[in-house]
Amino acid sequence: MHYLVTGGAGYIGSHICLELKARSHEVTVLDDFSSGHRWAVAGLEVIEADLRDLEGIRPALAGRRFDGVFHLAAKSLVGESAQKPLYYYQNNVSGTANLITVALEEGWRDCVFSSTAAVYGNPLTPLIAETHPLNPINVYGQTKRVMEELLAAVHAQGDLNAACLRYFNAAGASPEDQRGEWHEPETHLIPNILRGAAGDDVALTLYGDDYPTPDGTCIRDYVHVLDLADAHVRAMELLHRAGGFHQLNLGNGQGYSVKEVLAACERAVGASITHTIGPRRPGDPARLVAEAQLAEEVLGWTPSRGLQAIVESAWAWEQHRRQLKHALD
Ligand SMILES: NC(=O)c1ccc[n+]([C@@H]2O[C@H](COP(=O)([O-])OP(=O)(O)OC[C@H]3O[C@@H](n4cnc5c(N)ncnc54)[C@H](O)[C@@H]3O)[C@@H](O)[C@H]2O)c1
Repeated sequence: MHYLVTGGAGYIGSHICLELKARSHEVTVLDDFSSGHRWAVAGLEVIEADLRDLEGIRPALAGRRFDGVFHLAAKSLVGESAQKPLYYYQNNVSGTANLITVALEEGWRDCVFSSTAAVYGNPLTPLIAETHPLNPINVYGQTKRVMEELLAAVHAQGDLNAACLRYFNAAGASPEDQRGEWHEPETHLIPNILRGAAGDDVALTLYGDDYPTPDGTCIRDYVHVLDLADAHVRAMELLHRAGGFHQLNLGNGQGYSVKEVLAACERAVGASITHTIGPRRPGDPARLVAEAQLAEEVLGWTPSRGLQAIVESAWAWEQHRRQLKHALD
């Protein structure tokens, strides 16, 4: 098979490319490198283009035969989305409309889409099932909800099959394949803890230790990025086999507290990690954990790597990332 991966130069997209190549598929990446990395697409065919530009992507993609599209390209910083709502709607929603316009023109029928737990907003139940109401509390989550609606509407016309995969927290890396997380700014907990442990000037604050959770810190649902990549390939195979429109959580169904994540990082690093306890951040629910049953039923997928494996891979990657940064500077 030959697949198009939008956002393939990014963190999760580059791991999906790894997974596809490991299964002997052909891969073409479309990316504007606004947050992606050139080293992450080494050896792959790359179309450098911005999805917001329909007249730019149309000639670049015309006449290409792809068996399916993995659509990851998006902006995903919650704070930035509040400051730049139009940019987020243009990039995420218009970008998706443009991609699907070309997909329909070219006859590519199957699309696996990166959605997010941010479509749910504040949880009303301890585990968040796919049937939970969609009440996103930030612009980023709103754009993802609209992107799902767009795909559903096109599917209803009979032209497209789609799987919207709602990730909770992607984490971990593939240091043996020189792939891992590198966002600037980095807003995710695990890479920030590890950057600080490796010597960066990162003041680590745990935001609140008085939540109604066993150790008082927030609980989040982390899945290793290679497990996510595996789920994407399974979702694409489902679309090839059975078509349809699917909305599936990708989570581990248990969650880990901030203190548990910190302890796992300390074990990986082999040292204690300096931190302070700060006040709660507004808008941070105590617990965001997926009901993960449906993905198991529909895709035969469950995450195979736990927290310690996630953190150890991220720590090994952090050593590599620092060397890479040194070489690129
Ligand atoms: N990282 C997570 O924990 C997480 C959780 C839930 C959902 N997601 C979603 O997964 C996807 C990938 O996340 P990531 O962490 O790998 O992000 P990332 O920023 O590393 O990757 C996004 C990629 O898309 C590219 N891109 C963005 N806008 C583009 C455009 N207009 N045209 C072409 N390319 C464009 C960027 O250059 C980058 O390579 C995103 O859609 C994100 O919303 C991520």
